[in-house]
Amino acid sequence: MTDSLPTFIAHHRPAVEAALAEHLPLSSQPGADRMNEALHYAVFPGGKRWRPMLTLLGALIVGGTVKRALPAACAVEFLHTSSLILDDLPAMDDADLRRGRASLHIAFGEGIALLTALALLNQAYALMACAARDTAAMQRLLCEATRCIGSDGMIGGQVADLESSPAFADAAVMASRNLKTTALTRLMMTSGAIVAGANETDIAALAHFGESFGAAYQVCDDLMDETGERDALGKTVRQDGRHRRPSFVADLGPEGSARLAASLIEAGKQALRERFGPRREVYLLAQAADFMLSSYVATRPAAFARS
Ligand code: IPE
Ligand code: IPE
Ligand code: MG
Ligand code: MG
Ligand code: MG
Repeated sequence: MTDSLPTFIAHHRPAVEAALAEHLPLSSQPGADRMNEALHYAVFPGGKRWRPMLTLLGALIVGGTVKRALPAACAVEFLHTSSLILDDLPAMDDADLRRGRASLHIAFGEGIALLTALALLNQAYALMACAARDTAAMQRLLCEATRCIGSDGMIGGQVADLESSPAFADAAVMASRNLKTTALTRLMMTSGAIVAGANETDIAALAHFGESFGAAYQVCDDLMDETGERDALGKTVRQDGRHRRPSFVADLGPEGSARLAASLIEAGKQALRERFGPRREVYLLAQAADFMLSSYVATRPAAFARS
């Protein structure tokens, strides 16, 4: 029934969408109508939704169930959406288009955008606290989440990106900057598994895959930012250049970046194969990684697609 990634996604999408609607942190306070509207606008129809799907696969690969992993999958999607709302603000990337329409602060104003992002962030922690099957798993998940989101995780990566300049684009700066994406993709892979009570060796292999996937994704995102089209991507482009931020395309060029992304994906797949063997979920996660790479190449100019 779910032997290919598109089939898996089609099969689980209704449950993911329903869970996101169920857990949306709507306010019952008088005067909260605009924030509630903004929450709907931010989360629906949303983006590609591959993050919650990969969280479900992270749970299934260690023997967990979709039902128990769904709140963690929603938490990851809320964290991601929250990070994008903040990322688009004038004080950050100052981007006016997201997911094919006006960014949240353009549609609702900066105050509502900030509070909507915080409501999603807060709800993500509430969902994780309730999702785990026992106290040990809950503590493990909250440690993992605070690490992945915090000052040495996604937030630290966003700070590094904000404070960076092309003059200081050494490997350490690039690694810090990359945390903005690698840390959240790590949590995407580990959270469902931790909820299911996974052991540390399994969690480490999933973390390795998540970080590799995230690093490759950021390489591809940098390339799309530099060479993609606003309408096709549905978001503001040329942001890195406009803000004079270091990026992989500036550092390695298009071909070098593509090779780096492919090698990162291969390392991530290898970590999964070594730990979990020929499991169906290994195959589906490998498909997800390959699909991400190939859909990126499909949006590239012809000259680059040859490399
Ligand atoms: C954009 O992510 C932010 C990065 C991590 C580079 P996506 O483009 O995957 O976000 P969705 O599809 O809108 O959710
Ligand atoms: C955003 O990176 C990463 C996070 C929101 C944590 P980018 O700034 O490159 O993402 P896009 O290009 O705006 O989607
Ligand atoms: Mg940014
Ligand atoms: Mg941005
Ligand atoms: Mg970008």
